[in-house]
Amino acid sequence: MFGFMRVGVSGDPRSTRPVTRWIDRWLEACNDLAELERSNPMTDAVIDDLDGRMIRIGDQWLADFASCNYLGFDLDREINASVPEYLARWGTHPSWSRLLGSPVLYTRIEERLRDLIGSEDVLVLPTITLIHMSVIPVLAGGGTIFLEKRAHKTIYDGCQLASARGATVKKFAFEDVEDLERLLLQKNAAPRLICIDGVNSMTGNAADVEGFARLAREYDALLYVDDAHGFGVIGERAADETSPYGMRGNSIVRHVGESYDHVLLVAGLSKSYSSLAAFLACPPELKRLLKTAAPSYLYSGPSPVASLATTLAGLDVNETRGDAIRADLWRKTAAVLDCLERLGAHTPNRSGFPIIEVPLARHEDIDAVGRFLFENGIYVTLAAYPLVPRDEVGFRIQVTAANTNAEIERLVDVLGKLVERFDLQPARSGKRWAA
Ligand SMILES: Cc1ncc(COP(=O)(O)O)c(C=O)c1O
Repeated sequence: MFGFMRVGVSGDPRSTRPVTRWIDRWLEACNDLAELERSNPMTDAVIDDLDGRMIRIGDQWLADFASCNYLGFDLDREINASVPEYLARWGTHPSWSRLLGSPVLYTRIEERLRDLIGSEDVLVLPTITLIHMSVIPVLAGGGTIFLEKRAHKTIYDGCQLASARGATVKKFAFEDVEDLERLLLQKNAAPRLICIDGVNSMTGNAADVEGFARLAREYDALLYVDDAHGFGVIGERAADETSPYGMRGNSIVRHVGESYDHVLLVAGLSKSYSSLAAFLACPPELKRLLKTAAPSYLYSGPSPVASLATTLAGLDVNETRGDAIRADLWRKTAAVLDCLERLGAHTPNRSGFPIIEVPLARHEDIDAVGRFLFENGIYVTLAAYPLVPRDEVGFRIQVTAANTNAEIERLVDVLGKLVERFDLQPARSGKRWAA
């Protein structure tokens, strides 16, 4: 099908170079996913309507368990009502690059995020992807990046760019502090950067940030943590916390009681805060450097004003109602995890975080399982190869505070029916999810 692309790397049809281009290999690897995209209603869908967390695709209404709006801020009336006032004052989009000028809203957001997460300073940029692509090459220079093997694809892309600019990339095993130390003990050019996910986007489990931060300090490296999912959900622990997620949703570093010494935190507002923006928590000197060294500060368009407004309103709601919302989210997530436990089904989730991956016993069943869930009114993320390794192919449930109790009950009911038709991987002993 892609035979027309089977020419040399240069694009010159006279080139006789063999077909080893990454694009051919990549398209081949994406075959299963492409099949699903063509035929399964659970992928690449057009959402025709929305009512709370119910979505309509064609004639079918489904309960949406594929949203990352964990706190339900996308549907929050108070947050939505805040937008018109900002639009009236600032228009829809400032359209200056940040280096040219930023509405004062950015200053307010950066100050409030800094106070919330307790870092020295914060730099807001449009997306986490752009932060990785801009910041990782600057931090790595001609030094060494230690990349966790299952870090998010967007971190990989940032590392690839850094590698093209002279950095060496070494990979260490997932969640394996000892394997990282083995690499750190080798001769490595400085600067040294360790890249990991905070709360992993597939397992829902938090990285051992304390262990990795200890190594960063010991080996004079910087720990770079992408907590796209954790920010807004998990936060500092307290005696009177409303759930085991902790309080304030101020991310993984605070959740585990770590400091920002040798630690840089990246997080996004597009998940829990339902707003198109992201940020890097860093010392002020690095922020100043990035203003002229990071292309996404120099050249990229800014976040829409509506997103800056919903970020500020979201920060207000987080202060007043955030911990009650997180308690509700914990309870709803627990109901789904309890159900899987009753059904004897495996999930890698050991944390109680609202990302629940359910691997299938046979990866070939994914198309039929997707159809079954769709026909029974449940919308989830299908985790096909190569999004996950073949032995982890299955589906990912994401619970949000905006899912109603009735939707959770429906999910539990459908999961019960699913196991009568399809084999899930059996629960593994000693892996019970826990606070
Ligand atoms: C761990 C992680 N990092 C980065 C991203 C990309 O975030 P953004 O949309 O802000 O580029 C995602 C998106 O799902 C993610 O899960």
